[in-house]
Amino acid sequence: MTAATISGVIPLPYRVAGRREDTADTVTLELDRDGEGLPEFGPGQFAMLTAYGIGEVPISVSGSRGTRLIHTIRAVGAVTRALCATRSGDVIGVRGPFGTRWDVGAAAGHDVLVVAGGIGLAPLRPVVECLLADRRAYGHVAVLIGARRPGELLYPGDLRRWAAHVRVDVIVDRAEPGWRGRVGLVTGLIPAAGVDAGRAVAYVCGPEVMMRATARALVDRGVQAERVWLSLERAMRCGAGWCGHCQLGPLLICRDGPVVGYPVAEPLLTVREL
Ligand SMILES: Cc1cc2nc3c(=O)[nH]c(=O)nc-3n(C[C@H](O)[C@H](O)[C@H](O)COP(=O)(O)OP(=O)(O)OC[C@H]3O[C@@H](n4cnc5c(N)ncnc54)[C@H](O)[C@@H]3O)c2cc1C
Ligand code: FES
Repeated sequence: MTAATISGVIPLPYRVAGRREDTADTVTLELDRDGEGLPEFGPGQFAMLTAYGIGEVPISVSGSRGTRLIHTIRAVGAVTRALCATRSGDVIGVRGPFGTRWDVGAAAGHDVLVVAGGIGLAPLRPVVECLLADRRAYGHVAVLIGARRPGELLYPGDLRRWAAHVRVDVIVDRAEPGWRGRVGLVTGLIPAAGVDAGRAVAYVCGPEVMMRATARALVDRGVQAERVWLSLERAMRCGAGWCGHCQLGPLLICRDGPVVGYPVAEPLLTVREL
């Protein structure tokens, strides 16, 4: 069997080749495979990452470089804490790629809004990189980012680089000494984003409450619901549509999501996770 054929079943060992502490609880890992790697991950897709001896969790791809996989992980429980604690040279198991993608190509010719809350910027980072790679194919592009506090803002270097090509606006829930930016909710950035709502495509990722409020605000301003895309989250086991663990209404989020259109997501966003 090749790596591609077993990619959905058996975790392949990847080596931690790079590690950056983004914030107090969030780490970006760069993973290399010695030998045949997994098939290419698209923007929005996720891997099942195994911390050997602890467990396995779904984590979106936040970037890639050749065959190198990049993941940004927030430590919230046993497995994510173990993944964040890995060091250069440690080995992590990887299965994937799983799930649906952000269809960035479909936004060609349109204005684009990328709206991120907290760790939700990680799955959206490849979207912004795709937009920049073909910048002239898109109209006005605005990246709106919300964080709980300034110290939790991800990728400050990327934000500065992106701001040379697209609009980047940041807002925090709570200011800290020295913060001179906006304070409030990310939806507060939408009115001044400068996009033409009638021709805009939006990609939104963050906590469910943030996605619900953002998608509603966008539609209220005239963005077509069919052009608003969200990334849904549910606890997962197999990641590949076999076990039913990630069922949400009629969807298996690992297979039919995580990226879904707002018309599909809207009635499901009121369903609480079991
Ligand atoms: C498709 C998909 C993509 C994802 N991409 C990323 C990613 O790129 N980066 C990332 O850091 N996480 C991502 N997640 C979330 C990640 O999978 C969970 O944080 C992880 O499964 C938690 O496992 P654990 O064993 O560490 O914690 P658990 O023991 O499962 O949880 C510990 C505590 O944290 C709470 N918790 C669980 N998940 C979350 C969460 N997402 N946010 C806040 N609290 C939570 C639990 O309710 C519990 O109280 C993604 C999830 C999905 C479904
Ligand atoms: S996690 Fe098994 S079906 Fe989705």
